Amino acid sequence: MGISGAASLGQSRFFTRKKVLIVDDDPLITIGLERTVAKEGFLTAAATTGNKALQKIEEDPPDIVLLDIKLPDSLDGLALLEIIKQTRPEITVIMISGQAEIRSAVDAMKAGASDYLEKPIDFNRLKAILEPLKAGRPDPRPPAGTDLVFVSDRMKRAVEIMQRLALKSDITVLVLGESGTGKNYLCRRMHELSPRKDFSYVQIGCANIPDHLIESELFGYEKGAFTDAKQSKKGLVEVAEGGTLLLDELGEMPYQFQAKVLALLEEKRYRKVGALQDSIADIRILAATNRNLHTLVQEKRFRLDLYYRLNVATIELPALRERPEDIPPLVRHFLSMFSSKYGLPVKILEEGGLRLLREYHWPGNIRQLKNMLERLVVLTEGEVISTEEISASLMLQPQDRAEAGAGPAGPDVPGSLALGDMEERYIRSALKLAAGNQRRAAELLHISRDTLRYRLKKMGIEAK
Ligand SMILES: Nc1ncnc2c1ncn2[C@@H]1O[C@H](COP(=O)(O)OP(=O)(O)O)[C@@H](O)[C@H]1O
Ligand SMILES: [Mg+2]
Repeated sequence: MGISGAASLGQSRFFTRKKVLIVDDDPLITIGLERTVAKEGFLTAAATTGNKALQKIEEDPPDIVLLDIKLPDSLDGLALLEIIKQTRPEITVIMISGQAEIRSAVDAMKAGASDYLEKPIDFNRLKAILEPLKAGRPDPRPPAGTDLVFVSDRMKRAVEIMQRLALKSDITVLVLGESGTGKNYLCRRMHELSPRKDFSYVQIGCANIPDHLIESELFGYEKGAFTDAKQSKKGLVEVAEGGTLLLDELGEMPYQFQAKVLALLEEKRYRKVGALQDSIADIRILAATNRNLHTLVQEKRFRLDLYYRLNVATIELPALRERPEDIPPLVRHFLSMFSSKYGLPVKILEEGGLRLLREYHWPGNIRQLKNMLERLVVLTEGEVISTEEISASLMLQPQDRAEAGAGPAGPDVPGSLALGDMEERYIRSALKLAAGNQRRAAELLHISRDTLRYRLKKMGIEAK
């Protein structure tokens, strides 16, 4: 008895009830949803506008958000989804859409929503969606003390610089590197190693936030600053007070706003929207981008003064293809991570498979490697992942950097690849796992639905 008691105590965080925030402007719907969700064993909260929801998310972040696409105030469901995905990627978002917004629901899936429900809501489907989310899932953020995985000299140098800069907790650091090289991961680690580690770590993605929102997101606003500002709101700079603020995808920051960022960097000074006075922040600022800022300066899309100000302390992360020696330890790391995530025995690669992975050019870098290994762990049977399975999976990989996640998805070019047996098996196994649902199968395979349809047609399976 004593032992089992201790064991369950130690694991108590896995038994805490998860919290669902319901965001819909129709109170009849929120009441119905709250009732069902509570019956399923979740804690619930509700908000009727996007801005109210955002405030609740900041005050007490939920695990899951049920989010109506159409909301009355300035922040609609899609805009809120983007903010959630940028600032709190660990939250699962399920969209609710009316018949008229099915197209938007598809866009939302692309923007990171996990699923969507159509109105009128089918409560059995809602239960089915919530079921797998009940159990406590391991925290997707790297726990404090988790180290970056690498053996290459180039990464060693980058990490040494990071460790030194981490201790100087007032210095602004610019982190450069292609998409998926680990910029965000490194930034979080830098915060954890810094004297500011006991305060918040906040990140804002500058790319997808509309111009008019970025200022109030970052600096907050006073009550009455604009029509919808019924209450004052904290900006992310204030949320990060004492800690670290990462300006992610800084190259995409609206030009007009860059002067205010410069003032924030130089004097830690900013002004809330509608405020009469400046505030002073005690934060460290990190910035990350996959863009060449120098080129952006020449194209007059990035301020020269801001460029100079940022170019003082930089860390450059090499692309994965420039450090293939990091691939074996990363593969081991991800195989054991995903095997345990899905409760499977640890899978290994057949000899020769690793060589294929080392020779591939990885346009999407570590993110792409990680995604591919997750799918291989889930989709392959048995404990050894065969070389054929690896090459089939490589054939299905996006062909260029844009598609591999470096930027907006480029057009898909189906038909350029031979359709091997393994590939066919791989597709069949994804369809089986997805219970025949092609949208999900395409997601599992990380290919577009059109590509999947095309392949199915070639395999003689007519797309529905
Ligand atoms: N050195 C590393 N060791 C282990 N995992 C890593 C490492 N670098 C990146 N990752 C993982 O790869 C993925 C992409 O990293 P991320 O920091 O989001 O890249 P970026 O911000 O450069 O696009 C993340 O899931 C991250 O956890
Ligand atoms: Mg990133």
